Amino acid sequence: MSEKVRELISEADVEAKIAELGAQISKDYEGESVFLLCILKGGVFFTTELAKRITVPVSLDFMSVSSYGAETESSGVVRIIKDLDTSIEGKNVLVVEDIIDTGRTLAYLLENLKHRNPKSLKLCALLDKPERRVSDVAVDYKGFEIPDEFVVGYGMDYDQKYRNLPYIGVVEF
Ligand code: IMP
Ligand code: MG
Repeated sequence: MSEKVRELISEADVEAKIAELGAQISKDYEGESVFLLCILKGGVFFTTELAKRITVPVSLDFMSVSSYGAETESSGVVRIIKDLDTSIEGKNVLVVEDIIDTGRTLAYLLENLKHRNPKSLKLCALLDKPERRVSDVAVDYKGFEIPDEFVVGYGMDYDQKYRNLPYIGVVEF
């Protein structure tokens, strides 16, 4: 309980970036619809804000995955806790994730989703920690690149806390 949170990206900067991403996505998917695949729980805050900034028809669904490993690092062994309620066959799927760290979780998930025959499959992440990458995952839409620090807020947690912070902060132990 002794950790502190230092602001890294302000609420205004996060919101401006999401508006930019939404505009770019709306342009790229013009004449099509997009299926936002939100990764629980961290991706929820980002997904809902992003969805509001997209002007093409949007549908969305949720998946919950867990990767075994130490508290702050994923192992690459991914378990699907909650699968989609709907089929993605023939749809333009945009996976929306809070942060790509080692890339292991998304590498596994994207491979799994490919086999379900979507029309297209892309990845949108609010944050990217490229220094930490272990699995080669391409982020099609990226909010911010950040250094190798553990961040919280805007959906992201430390020990299930801080998801509700309206800005992004670094946890200082
Ligand atoms: P990866 O498989 O290492 O890319 O891990 C991705 C997942 O780990 C993200 O979806 C987050 O849930 C979590 N994660 C990675 N880095 C952070 C962080 O700095 N803060 C909060 N969660 C993180
Ligand atoms: Mg996550």
